[in-house]
Amino acid sequence: PPGYDFVVVANRLAVNRVTLSDGSTGWQRSPGGLVTALAPIMAASEGAWVGWHGAPDETLTPFDHEGMHLHPVPLSSEEVEDYYEGFSNGTLWPLYHDVIARPDFHRHWFEAYRRVNQRFAEAAAKVAGQGATVWVQDYQLQLVPQMLRDLRPDVKIGFFNHIPFPPPGLFAQLPWRHSVLRGLLGADLIGFQRESDARNFQRAVRHRLGHYIRSDKIYVPLEEPSEASSQMKGFNVDPSRGTAPRQLSAPGEGTYRIAEAKAFPISIDTDKIVELAAREDIIERARQIREDLGNPETVFLGVDRLDYTKGIRHRMKAYEELLQDGELTVGQACLVQIASPSREGVESYQQLRDEIELAVGRINGEFDSMAHTAIRYLHHSYPVEEMVALYLAADVMLVTALRDGMNLVAKEYVAARADGTGVLVLSEFTGAADQLRQALLINPHDIDELKAAMVKAAHIDPQDATRRMRSLRRQVVSHNVNRWARDFLDRLATL
Ligand code: G6P
Repeated sequence: PPGYDFVVVANRLAVNRVTLSDGSTGWQRSPGGLVTALAPIMAASEGAWVGWHGAPDETLTPFDHEGMHLHPVPLSSEEVEDYYEGFSNGTLWPLYHDVIARPDFHRHWFEAYRRVNQRFAEAAAKVAGQGATVWVQDYQLQLVPQMLRDLRPDVKIGFFNHIPFPPPGLFAQLPWRHSVLRGLLGADLIGFQRESDARNFQRAVRHRLGHYIRSDKIYVPLEEPSEASSQMKGFNVDPSRGTAPRQLSAPGEGTYRIAEAKAFPISIDTDKIVELAAREDIIERARQIREDLGNPETVFLGVDRLDYTKGIRHRMKAYEELLQDGELTVGQACLVQIASPSREGVESYQQLRDEIELAVGRINGEFDSMAHTAIRYLHHSYPVEEMVALYLAADVMLVTALRDGMNLVAKEYVAARADGTGVLVLSEFTGAADQLRQALLINPHDIDELKAAMVKAAHIDPQDATRRMRSLRRQVVSHNVNRWARDFLDRLATL
């Protein structure tokens, strides 16, 4: 087979299975920004997408969908438990998000992670053409870059981490920290959301592996340093290791290849959100939503996957206290909280759901009237049209994550507010806070500060709101997800 010039490798395939009206099943392109950004690049370059199709114990043959060549990777139910729910979402996710929840370390989880990463690497190695570009996505696949390099030294490898990379002191807890660093260093370009993530990674590499780093370039010895190799003084290039590994002398002995680690903050499909926000039926739907809520003066909105990193409880605590203090009253204010179901097989997510639903029940029981509700809580996910209607209906968007790689909801809200109204309250612990400096930035752990920002947002001077929103919009309009993908791939092409 000829092989593809461009290959994306991600835990999830770019399509979701859907049930059609006649009861049969089909595939639908995933709505997320990553797929939206990469689909046109795939179509233009005959690209392939390697990923899991979401159903355990099911093997599917490759198929095409809307110009994308899809290569499903099978996972057994045991691997879903150990690699996906276990190591990815029970170990790495909490560890990389500042141990907001306690990470569990189990050797058999890591063994499954290694095995599944090897399977993804082999699938990518099989479909990539000579000299292809392969772009590996996210924390579920951190071992893939080096595994792929071992199998296919001719391909160019990019890796992008969508979630934070933890500070060295936390990363140090991971029993398999060296394997993870070596896995990532197999890539030519390693992208992170924030400068601080890239720095954390570089510090871990320096401390743990002792590699020399200068202006984001990491000098990776091609061979493990040994007496023999240090005696050979830079001439120990292993021809099986690549078509043309560049030999560079950095301080120390040996032959190196370069891996670059830097920040490429991801964004959204801004045009699509702007377009939807201008659609008459969606504007009408926004009016309808406000009316259904009893036309309160201030609609606060939270939109999150139901995840402990999102600070949903902190937001509710602040809101509850504002109702108790009489700073807000039900009828005049309403909080709409969309919590989309996520990782329901993982215990910490089940616990969080219980806690949130207890809090919603308590707050509504205390403050609701026959006519009005304090919190309208919805444990569902919605199509993008409904999300944009919600953005238009909301006076104040609350993004109170305790730690978040980027947070695209913040950017989508800004994109939707074309008329310059609306206030974004944004946690400084999100990647988005690096770019959206004119939001009302808050520390979600500081409940008093959060309350003050919510009150300020509810009563903001319209001119101040517009000035802030216009500046936020300039950022989001000029930095969309296409630019993100282009910046990353252009940089990779030069390496
Ligand atoms: C985050 C991760 C993604 C992940 C998504 C949804 O955004 O960075 O890699 O796909 O959450 O989580 P799920 O576990 O359902 O794929």
